[in-house]
Amino acid sequence: MKLRSVRGTHDLFGDEINKFNNIYQIVSKVAHLNKFLEIETPIFEFTELFSKPLGEMSDVVLKEMYTFKDRNEDQLTLRPEYTTPMIRAAISNNLLNELPLKLYGLGPVFRRERPQKGRYRQFNQINFEIFGSNDSIADLEIISIANKILKSLIPESNFTLNINSLGRRENLVKYKKDLSKYFNDKKMQLSEESIFKIDSNPLRILDSKQQNDIEISNNAPPITEYLSNNAKVKFEELKQGLTSNKISYIENLKLVRGLDYYCDTVFEFKTQDLGSQDTILGGGRYDGLISKLGGPDIPGIGWAAGIERISMLMKKIKINEKHVHIAINDESFKSHLIKIIKYFNDNEIIFFWNYKYNLKKSLSRANSNNANYVIIIGEKEYKKNFYTIKNLITGEQSELSIDKIKKFLND
Ligand code: HAM
Repeated sequence: MKLRSVRGTHDLFGDEINKFNNIYQIVSKVAHLNKFLEIETPIFEFTELFSKPLGEMSDVVLKEMYTFKDRNEDQLTLRPEYTTPMIRAAISNNLLNELPLKLYGLGPVFRRERPQKGRYRQFNQINFEIFGSNDSIADLEIISIANKILKSLIPESNFTLNINSLGRRENLVKYKKDLSKYFNDKKMQLSEESIFKIDSNPLRILDSKQQNDIEISNNAPPITEYLSNNAKVKFEELKQGLTSNKISYIENLKLVRGLDYYCDTVFEFKTQDLGSQDTILGGGRYDGLISKLGGPDIPGIGWAAGIERISMLMKKIKINEKHVHIAINDESFKSHLIKIIKYFNDNEIIFFWNYKYNLKKSLSRANSNNANYVIIIGEKEYKKNFYTIKNLITGEQSELSIDKIKKFLND
């Protein structure tokens, strides 16, 4: 058998992992400034946590969950998203006693989708949630945080915020019914995929990418006709808030989101630079979901972003750290080598040695690793108890006793 990784998974190293680390740093800084608590939930949960709340007819539940039975016949699923596990964790750990509760987390998520650019079967998400407020200020806060994080990582010209309101759940039921009727009348002209969704998930036909579907849904009844006054007022408040926070947006009446639990505000940050996987970050309100999962009847809003997709839009990370390579030409000077390695460790100096007693090979490795300095250990250095240090950029060489090296590198 040829050794290979599983389709849709990927290894992280080099520049890619530098970008991930940079993303983690920015996310935790912004979360800290906004007093969001970090939470890590298990990678697998009982399947029932996901199947109903995400929508039994949603693509995620129908086709994409990694579900298995463990030895005592428990039906388990690798998390396909974070919102429901976060709610489960908040309920299980009695975190909802004091509201609002603001949580964030990041880590791997699993969906068995068809892999393509920007779409993996194991990918990583950043997730922010606010439980316990239906004030439009919470909507504004959660979107502003998303905007701030994205702006710190990628140029603003690379993404656009799309927003929409789906209205209250009751109105959405009526809207879905009317949409089903509308699409049913046009059934013959729809794509096969959309025909399948007419009764089960008609909202999703609105964001189909097939040309025929797009033309038909352009004339579908608009969601705006179904919004209650209260939903309209809240959406207006959000739009005003975004404008006053100087966050530009477009109102996209066809924005519906793929999971079933949304109502009122929904939003996505989209890009034109990743082909068809054009959503970097998506979220919205899910009032009703927390009580459906057995918690109190409190509202919630949040978002998740795909770390891989953000990373694809980021520039290479430049790491400005001085580091030293060691070059030694004979094993008999080993004790001098051990001394300098201990010195580097004690003084937190970044160093590398390639385990070769060969000056030429070590120098060539120092060059290929873009080292700033090389410490040379030869007979003269060993006998007279000093080290030769060469600046690989200027070519300058100095002879130093061990206690002078740290200061020399810091100057
Ligand atoms: P979602 O839209 O399913 O929402 O996923 C959020 C983000 O995860 C997407 O915008 C995308 O960047 C990334 N993503 C999704 N699938 C893949 C994939 N196969 N490969 C790479 N990246 C992917 C949710 O998951 C909701 N739980 C968001 C939310 C939180 N709503 C409220 N709170």
